[in-house]
Amino acid sequence: MIVSINGNVFGYDDAGSGLPVVFLHGFPHDRSLWAQQRTALAPRVRCIAPDLRGFGVSVAKGPYSMDQYADDVVALLDNLDIGPAVFCGLSMGGYIAMALWRRHPERVRGFVFCDTKAGADSEAARANRELLIGVAHGEGAGAVADRMLLGMIGKATRSRQPSLEADVRAMMARQPVAGIVGALGALRDRPDSHETLKSITVPTLVLVGEDDVLTPPSDAQSMLDALPEAAAARMDIIAGAGHVSCLERPAAVTHALAEYLLTLAGHPY
Ligand code: MLT
Repeated sequence: MIVSINGNVFGYDDAGSGLPVVFLHGFPHDRSLWAQQRTALAPRVRCIAPDLRGFGVSVAKGPYSMDQYADDVVALLDNLDIGPAVFCGLSMGGYIAMALWRRHPERVRGFVFCDTKAGADSEAARANRELLIGVAHGEGAGAVADRMLLGMIGKATRSRQPSLEADVRAMMARQPVAGIVGALGALRDRPDSHETLKSITVPTLVLVGEDDVLTPPSDAQSMLDALPEAAAARMDIIAGAGHVSCLERPAAVTHALAEYLLTLAGHPY
């Protein structure tokens, strides 16, 4: 589906009914990232998945920032007349979920932080964002995809399911350069979110692929450590998965999500 909001165009999927669960993709991905979980969970909950500003079929000019992505998501939910929702974000999607808590905590029923981290970019990471901005402008999205591919997929998946590499590369290579460049600036400038995590009071699940080298289990553990008791947080490590765990071990990630969603019944909003 396509909707025009504040002069920008957003693509999204919306299936199922009941508790709204919003799936936020990472960088440089689109809403297809979470397709398997959405299909599996739509008989039980309402699954909403936007293409974030500048990705997939969403066409949006700047500015690009985690705050802007968060505001875009809330504007889409307003448009759909959806109140508090669970936000399930992978990597950059998790950074956006943390911005959502800073800006719109009343809209949050729960969080799933998947293969993400709370820390800001290091100096080296910021320099690498600049390098990738140059690559995107000079060589296009395919060259960005080539540079990022190795870190995306875990070592066990690469040997167990070699064809996934081409699928993930294709998803990354089809993203618009403007969206990639905008997101790289937003990633570079995002704040540290450890203090944000400390203030979370809704049920929170932290998921991470065992073989994730971009946001490894140690980052997930540091998120878990920062979350207060009020978040009733727990962490699941997805065996044999890397950074895009929801594509690498889809059934295992769906299972973890389904279990978490069941526990929400014991935490009335
Ligand atoms: C992502 O998957 O969203 C990116 O790896 C996030 C990042 O580069 O920090």
